[in-house]
Amino acid sequence: MCGIVGYVGAKNKAIDTVLEGLETLEYRGYDSAGIAYIEKDTISVHKAIGRVQALHDDLGPNVSKNTISIGHTRWATHGSPTVYNAHPHTNQDGSIAVVHNGIIENYEELRDFLKKKGYNFVSETDSEVIPHLLDYHLRKTRSFRVAFLQTLKALSGTFGLVVMTTHEPDVLFAARLGSPLVLGITNTNAIIFASDPAALIAHTKKVVFLNDYEYVIAKQDGTYALHDFMKDTKVVRDPEILAYDAEEAQLGDFAHFMLKEIYEVPQTIRSATLGRIKAEEGIVKLGGLEAVSEQLNYIDRIVIVACGTSYYAGLVGEYLIEEIAGIPVEVQYASEFKYRDEPFSRSTALLAISQSGETADTIAALKKVEDFGVLRLGIVNAVGSTIARMTDAGVYCHAGPERAVASTKAFVAQVTVLAQMALYLSKGNSPLYKPLLKELDALPQKAEQLLKLDATIQKMAKKYAHYNDFLFIGRKYDFPSALEGALKLKEISYIHAEGFAAGEMKHGPLAMIEPAFPTFAIAPNGSLLPKTVSNIEEIRARKGKVVAIGTQGNTQLKRLVDDVLYMPDTLEQTTPILSAIILQLFAYYVALERGHNVDRPRNLAKSVTVE
Ligand code: G6P
Repeated sequence: MCGIVGYVGAKNKAIDTVLEGLETLEYRGYDSAGIAYIEKDTISVHKAIGRVQALHDDLGPNVSKNTISIGHTRWATHGSPTVYNAHPHTNQDGSIAVVHNGIIENYEELRDFLKKKGYNFVSETDSEVIPHLLDYHLRKTRSFRVAFLQTLKALSGTFGLVVMTTHEPDVLFAARLGSPLVLGITNTNAIIFASDPAALIAHTKKVVFLNDYEYVIAKQDGTYALHDFMKDTKVVRDPEILAYDAEEAQLGDFAHFMLKEIYEVPQTIRSATLGRIKAEEGIVKLGGLEAVSEQLNYIDRIVIVACGTSYYAGLVGEYLIEEIAGIPVEVQYASEFKYRDEPFSRSTALLAISQSGETADTIAALKKVEDFGVLRLGIVNAVGSTIARMTDAGVYCHAGPERAVASTKAFVAQVTVLAQMALYLSKGNSPLYKPLLKELDALPQKAEQLLKLDATIQKMAKKYAHYNDFLFIGRKYDFPSALEGALKLKEISYIHAEGFAAGEMKHGPLAMIEPAFPTFAIAPNGSLLPKTVSNIEEIRARKGKVVAIGTQGNTQLKRLVDDVLYMPDTLEQTTPILSAIILQLFAYYVALERGHNVDRPRNLAKSVTVE
């Protein structure tokens, strides 16, 4: 979703740093970009549709001597992706420039008010009210700081914003309410603002994450002051050091981030279990839950809230926690949970799952129960993110940065953490305790083995890439995998794909089956294999093509289906971790075959920070 970068410092690196930062944020998905800087007491603004490279070209080589700049990549919400709608937005005399993430909910009201006062608007965006409102308050108060504060208080909705003005040309003003913003302090005393730490990590790991209702005034000499704009008080918070490796976020020898991230799956499983399980000794230790271990004894229901791929990981978690720990679990889309009126007792824990830790709906779900006195837990990948900070306790995924819009290794990490959480909550009282622990330990190697199927999957993807519809089926643990497999294909290949519980075939989906509507059946060895095989037979009887995932050594499937991909033998509880690799590679190669931008699919964003 939209990205923000701001720079103020003495080192004449403003424009380069902002452009580099914007390029780093390209992975989040966007449709236009813009940059502003101050030169000779004037703000210059450049905007372009599409790539950040277009801004580079527009700026030319002679503008690298600036000390202050702000930039933005936009993912259209209000108004189509045009140059006028791209940020930075300015006031009429061009003395104030603003980049904004989030949604200003009262923008119509504010725009009507400002229009009556003689302000002209050039864009269709909600964000454009901000520079005009700043201008309005500045004219009344004669102090930019006061005007900034008054403007923040007048805005309702969500914002992460950075402002630059010729009235105070050495200062950046920034604020946050419901949309992430982090400040970095470089060792040359420059201050960099970003909506995602990825944009500043190349320059510093010393950061301060802004909380809601906070604003910052940052000066060219590297000093900054943090305040609460509702209470109007100063906030003191020491910077923290990001545990994040810039190298990890580079493409290396891979053609796309998605492929690189699929190849990181074995290491992801290792990192997600490192120091947490000791298979030989039968130990699961989740340090992030220790502080609430007492409270967890009284939990008799868990509601998981998440979006997209994280929601599907949650569905696998539902099966795992119920089967292993015996605690009833319900998984809800965060976007539905927040508007639903359901009885919620204090013995229910809310568990938010999020790769980015910044998804607006998941944050809203956590906020909804803020005053209920319930335990709020998190499974988050991005360290220090909003969700990680607002939950009472949680477990980090440690998957490292994920750059491709379609989530791959993060899904695997989430399921791996959920399996460990199920074991932890079971306190060893499950016949599956030891076998599952042992299997988690063995999984990285099995995942490595699976990656050797790469060329086979690529060949198969070529064969199926021309179909316009696809069905994914599975039972029990393989049902969420079927949903996730379909989502992966939809996201990046734009093929119509549906996931179903195999047992539901006769209740509707079977009607769609014909030679041009192939099915991907997840049919590993296990108690339910004969039942899934019956479903495959039903599809074959209707002349439907079938691709299957089976367990190595299974000879029955080969005779029955058009193509089989074999995975190493594993427990049914860990099948989703291994089958994910096949489903992800299949979607990747189909999308590639169809000529799509695999890492940045149309209309989608990596982190959905608005509702
Ligand atoms: C977007 C991304 C998905 C992701 C979902 C939830 O839709 O494109 O890949 O699964 O958001 O994101 P989260 O960061 O909360 O896991």
